[in-house]
Amino acid sequence: MSAEPGGERLVDHEADSEDRAVEAALRPRQLGEFIGQERVRQQLDLVLRAARERGATADHVLLSGAPGLGKTTLSMIIAAEMGAPIRITSGPAIQHAGDLASILSSLQEGEVLFLDEIHRMSRPAEEMLYIAMEDFRVDVIVGKGPGATAIPLELPPFTLVGATTRAGLLPPPLRDRFGFTAHMEFYAPAELERVVHRSAGLLDVEVDPAGAAEIAGRSRGTPRIANRLLRRVRDYAQIKADGSIGQETASRALEVYEVDQRGLDRLDRAVLEALLKLFGGGPVGLSTLAVAVGEERETVEEVAEPFLVREGLLARTPRGRVATPAAWAHLGLTPPAQQAGQPGLFGG
Ligand SMILES: Nc1ncnc2c1ncn2[C@@H]1O[C@H](COP(=O)(O)OP(=O)(O)OP(=O)(O)O)[C@@H](O)[C@H]1O
Ligand SMILES: [Mg+2]
Repeated sequence: MSAEPGGERLVDHEADSEDRAVEAALRPRQLGEFIGQERVRQQLDLVLRAARERGATADHVLLSGAPGLGKTTLSMIIAAEMGAPIRITSGPAIQHAGDLASILSSLQEGEVLFLDEIHRMSRPAEEMLYIAMEDFRVDVIVGKGPGATAIPLELPPFTLVGATTRAGLLPPPLRDRFGFTAHMEFYAPAELERVVHRSAGLLDVEVDPAGAAEIAGRSRGTPRIANRLLRRVRDYAQIKADGSIGQETASRALEVYEVDQRGLDRLDRAVLEALLKLFGGGPVGLSTLAVAVGEERETVEEVAEPFLVREGLLARTPRGRVATPAAWAHLGLTPPAQQAGQPGLFGG
């Protein structure tokens, strides 16, 4: 992980090895335990309940959304709610259509097949999946070259749950074969507070409401990050305080780990600071900005910027990167145009 840019960041949306080790224990098991995503939960509840009542296998479900929002969790909940076993695999793990054929042909009736990172599947496997999803059939190719024949193999009905962080990369024929698509949104702070309380209960840590709010506010709308920050704050509370987490402890701990009130870490702040202090808020080219913070272009563009843009702190314009008034406010600085008594770029 350490070779990857941003791989060790506390506010990384992707799971690191510690996350993977503890996430299983923190996963909600039933739909009723799953926090937030109100609409998705309601819709999924209908889909699953109706299938259950008909004694049928649930329709295929596509889950799309940023890393750490609960796609894997929901896939397991779908299986649990249907009382069905779950088989877990991922797009990159399926190199050849044959890999997929052997998984499909060993499924039991009603089983949930969770296909993570479904956008990264190979083309031949994808085409096999179309048929399997629609007709519950795979064509097993026997032999090679002109003498090869396809032997159709009937599959028991199963539920495919596909997950993707990049729904836009899915070919439309694949997307269309899902009966239900759930778009997972970033979580509201109040929802993340509930995530923190719930996880604290499971980890046996005491957190008061203000402490939970402090952690939630810095978690970038992402339960995985909330859980990770909670673990780091727990460490701090254990060593530097009495073990329980209040607002003050949470805030001091996250200062130590350099995650600020808005969830920006050192890299995010370095990018913003360079943009404001060295380039007067821009516009400045990406390469120049990257050199100024001593990082690769890709790191600035792919690791730091998406969240800054999402937070409305930075804008990507044809002339270069530009800071918004919110960026100046967040770093407690005054935009130069205002100092000179002129209206700023954003009318500020
Ligand atoms: N709605 C939720 N309520 C409570 N906890 C949640 C919720 N969503 C996610 N979590 C927690 O966040 C962690 C990450 O969730 P999960 O692994 O399901 O994310 P993901 O969308 O599959 O991420 P990735 O794209 O990286 O695979 C889990 O440990 C889970 O406990
Ligand atoms: Mg996942």
